[in-house]
Amino acid sequence: MKAVVVEQYATIDQVELKDIPPPSMEPGQLRIRVEAAGIGFVDGLKIEGRYQTKDPLPFIPGTEFAGVVTEAPGTPGGFEPGMRVMGMTRSGALAEEIVVSPAALHPLPDGVAAEVAASFRANYLTALYALNARAMLVSGEQLLVLGAAGGTGIAAVQIGKLLGARVIAAASTPQKRAFARAHGADSDIDYTQTGWRDTLKELTNGHGADVIYDPVGGEISVQAFRSIAWRGRHLVVGFAAGAIPALPFNLPLLKGGALLGVDLAQIPVREPELQKRLMSQLTDWLAEGQLKPAVGRVFALDDFREAFRTMQTRGALGKMVVRIAR
Ligand SMILES: NC(=O)c1ccc[n+]([C@@H]2O[C@H](COP(=O)([O-])OP(=O)(O)OC[C@H]3O[C@@H](n4cnc5c(N)ncnc54)[C@H](OP(=O)(O)O)[C@@H]3O)[C@@H](O)[C@H]2O)c1
Repeated sequence: MKAVVVEQYATIDQVELKDIPPPSMEPGQLRIRVEAAGIGFVDGLKIEGRYQTKDPLPFIPGTEFAGVVTEAPGTPGGFEPGMRVMGMTRSGALAEEIVVSPAALHPLPDGVAAEVAASFRANYLTALYALNARAMLVSGEQLLVLGAAGGTGIAAVQIGKLLGARVIAAASTPQKRAFARAHGADSDIDYTQTGWRDTLKELTNGHGADVIYDPVGGEISVQAFRSIAWRGRHLVVGFAAGAIPALPFNLPLLKGGALLGVDLAQIPVREPELQKRLMSQLTDWLAEGQLKPAVGRVFALDDFREAFRTMQTRGALGKMVVRIAR
């Protein structure tokens, strides 16, 4: 099978597409023909060996995928050959075939394209977990989304709207802000401008943001916290800008605000029942057409490097997807 193989931690330019034997199966596992894989910021860090956990070499990158079950001896988890699924795993998605346990899979509602499904699970589960289970966002609250046109940012814009928030999208270019608006944001801010906190103040009639969804980090995070509303909640999602910010402890005191951590990787282990409930809410929205996940650009497998480069050069709108098979 064709697969992207990382033989040493390196930049994406040094990673090759190879012909390798398909993965072998253990009892209780299933084989999936991968149709599309979603690329996230973390995948890029893993390839370079810069993520907090390192995949042992050699490895196939890619954590999120959609495809069709081709082998399922004993129908583990009720999955049978021919069923369309979406999945999340530690690695292995950028390949024509992947072998996983049933816990990694979720049935795909009818009519949802593989590209959409591969863009869905990580970002939308993170956004719903953060906004609903951590920040307890309620209808009518003001939600500020930083990096709002990125993969997880655009998910937070859409989920925020579904939860009834007034969504303010912060992004660096007119194109990105228009993308966030097109996906439901009520207003937008150019947070590269020095006066952006004044604009936020005006947009919220002096109230500030009740909830801040922050996948960006760096100095912007501290500035955003300074504009939080009384009893506001600032969700720590990621550090796409590179720097982990340090928040002066007097700010939560003065603002009556809270800093809340969000880690998708720990939800299935620490809160499996909650994960099930949130996934079922998300797939209901998906099946009913209330939620149309934003697919950014779709690349052919041969062009996988371009998908990473687009994301790494801050050029991505929504999630980057690699199409693997038809
Ligand atoms: N905690 C969790 O469970 C969880 C889940 C998913 C993702 N994440 C994390 O969230 C972060 C974003 O992931 P993503 O997949 O949404 O990435 P993405 O699609 O590349 O979006 C990141 C956004 O951050 C902004 N940004 C600011 N400075 C940047 C820089 N120097 N380089 C790149 N982007 C920069 C960009 O928006 P502007 O150009 O508009 O500033 C960009 O749209 C990552 O750190 C990822 O690890 C965490």
